[in-house]
Order: sequence, then C-alpha cells, then structure tokens
Amino acid sequence: MKKETLAVHAGFEQDAATGAVMPPIYQVSTYAQSAPGEHLGYEYSRTDNPTRTPLQDAIAELESAKHGLVFSSGLAAIDAVLNLLKSGDHVVACDDLYGGTGRLFSQVATNRGLEFTFADLTSEESLRAAMQPNTKLVWLESPTNPMLRVVDIAKVAKIAKSVSGAGVLVAVDNTFMSPMLQQPLGLGADIVMHSVTKYINGHSDVVMGALAINDDALHERLKFLQNSIGGVPAPMDCFLVLRGIRTLALRMAQHDRNGSAVAAFLSSHPKVEAVVYPGLVSHPDHALALRQQSGFGGMVSFYVRGDLNAAKRFLSGLRIFKIAESLGGVESLIEHPAIMTHASVPPERRLQLGILDNLIRISCGIEHSDDLIADLERGLQLV
Ligand SMILES: Cc1ncc(COP(=O)(O)O)c(C=O)c1O
Repeated sequence: MKKETLAVHAGFEQDAATGAVMPPIYQVSTYAQSAPGEHLGYEYSRTDNPTRTPLQDAIAELESAKHGLVFSSGLAAIDAVLNLLKSGDHVVACDDLYGGTGRLFSQVATNRGLEFTFADLTSEESLRAAMQPNTKLVWLESPTNPMLRVVDIAKVAKIAKSVSGAGVLVAVDNTFMSPMLQQPLGLGADIVMHSVTKYINGHSDVVMGALAINDDALHERLKFLQNSIGGVPAPMDCFLVLRGIRTLALRMAQHDRNGSAVAAFLSSHPKVEAVVYPGLVSHPDHALALRQQSGFGGMVSFYVRGDLNAAKRFLSGLRIFKIAESLGGVESLIEHPAIMTHASVPPERRLQLGILDNLIRISCGIEHSDDLIADLERGLQLV
C-alpha cells in the first residue's frame, strides 16, 4: 500500500461485532473472566485495552515495524527505553535534543546510575570518541531540535554496532518527520520513538508517546516495562490519535509545502539573519536530508536580525502564529527556544549549539502559505 492508503487503513478495518469503521472507545479498566485465567485476551487496561491495540498496530504499520507500543507521553516512551538499561550502563546521545529529553537523561536517569555522553552525531569522529566499552544505547533525533541538523542514521547504526557489537541499541526520535517522511528501522535503528503529541496526532489535543520495534524479544521486554511502569494512555486518547492518523499523509504533505514556502520567504528577507531548514540548498545537511527523508517537514528555525528585544517585537506582531511550545499540530505555532522549549538546557550549551536570543522556531501548520507569510511579514516589520 502507498503511505496515503496505509494512513487511512492502518491498524483497524472494522469492528467484528457491528461493522463500525472506527474502534469503539472501550472506556473500561477491567474485563470479566469466565473462570480464573480464562478471558478473551484482555484482563486489565494497564496491560492491554481494545482501543489501544489498533492504535499500536497502526503505529507499527506506519513505521513498517512488527510491533508498536504507546505510552502516556513521549517522555514516558523514552523512559521505558531507558529502563532497558541498568546502573553503570552508558548512553551516547546527540547533543541537540529536545530539552525535556536532555533533562530526563541528565537530571533523572543519572540518579539511577546511567551515564551519558552528549555528542555531535553528525560527526563520525565525535560519535567514535563518545562510544565506551559500557555503551548500551545510542539515542538520536533527526532532524535535531531546534537546530535541524540531519544525522546519518544508517551511518550511526553501522558505526555503533561495529564499535560496540550488535547488542548496542540505536534509538531514533522520529517526531519531527513522522513515519510519513522517514522510517529509521529500515536504516538500521532498533527502536523508533515518537512524541505522538506532535504530528501523529496532529490536533494539539492529546499528549502521548510511541515506540516501534521489529525485534520480538525487545518488544516483549518493552511491553513488560509498559505494563510494569504503567505510563499508558487512556482509551479516549487512543481513539483520538487513531482518528488523527487517518489524515497524517495529507497533513504531512501540507506541513512540508508550508515549511518550504516559509523557509524560502524568510531566506530572502532583509530582517532575517539566517534560516535553518534542511530543504534549503544552503543547509549543511541538505544532500543527506534529500537521501534519508522523503520530505523536509514543517519545522523551520531562523535568526531575526537583532537581539532578544527584536525577537520579542517580532513575536508580538503575529496574529496567525500562536506563541506556544509544542509542534506538529494543524495550527501554526512559533516559539523562542532559549526562553521556552530549551530553557532547561544550560546557557553555555545553548550558546555552543547556536540557540541564541534571536533564534525563533516555527512549526508550520496546514493553513495557506500566503497567510502564513503575510503574518511573518507583519512581525518582521516590527524588528
Ligand atoms: C522531538 C521531541 N521528542 C520528545 C518530546 C517529548 O514528548 P512529550 O511532550 O509527548 O512527552 C518532544 C516534546 O516536545 C519533542 O519535541
């Protein structure tokens, strides 16, 4: 099936009892058993729920994976992966991460004895230098957040496994691309993670996370952790996300068109110092993005010409773009990474990464690009 068809049909065709084309919302915590241990496949909704099952199957199908698992947030999904490790294990993580992921790694997981090295995974040399004999997991985002560097997933997986053996896990946070624009398992990753909150749900009304896996034993262990830790989403949220998935292909195509149009507009604007978008030929990873992704997506970062006050003036002039954290919804959002999403990143690291006071990150929604560009122009006139 082509991805447009798959998005509409993945995970669920019809309800066996009624023919309903969407799954019922099984708003239930427990299930009657005909005798102790004899049941119809469901015992307790932390373990499994019939509205969650088709969603997990849909996510697996979209990622061309064997198994899918969903969690109560993206961070809960990441934490399940961290729980595969034990005290003394080492993780190599890319240095340009969503701030909350960095916080989970460096302020929470370190208390459980995990060790982290943050490295620029766009550089083979720095990946090799970061690997240690006790490295058990390599964690990356591509494109990174908010600097939109593209990491060569196949290369990282190959190097990680050649240095540390096949047992080292490579996990990719695929949130920015969605399964429509990038499929990391096919590039050699072992685990794909999504903040479903973003593109997969797409309507800014659910917080959820997901993992997609091919290996049966790894899936069994993660499913055990999902049930044992208990960070699972509610049935209603599973229903809403499955509904969102039905338009994922259409939405991603429009996010992608708007991202390109907005990046092109900003690139030629005198009040803009620089634009960061993998679809631009000027982007350092443009060739890799062309090869690895089937689109460039709706995320655009740029530097306004000026200081923090110029950035604030620009933001105050916008009417369509909402100043908000998060991304991937149908509505266009805009944010100031240094003050908002990446405030938990230490200031010196922000400087190193280029997260300066005049950096703005845009999540292009699915509106008409003419209206988005007119809105940006309105803001830029105040810079
Ligand atoms: C790239 C990325 N990964 C992970 C997360 C965390 O997901 P959640 O907010 O669903 O817990 C986010 C949230 O912004 C994100 O942008």
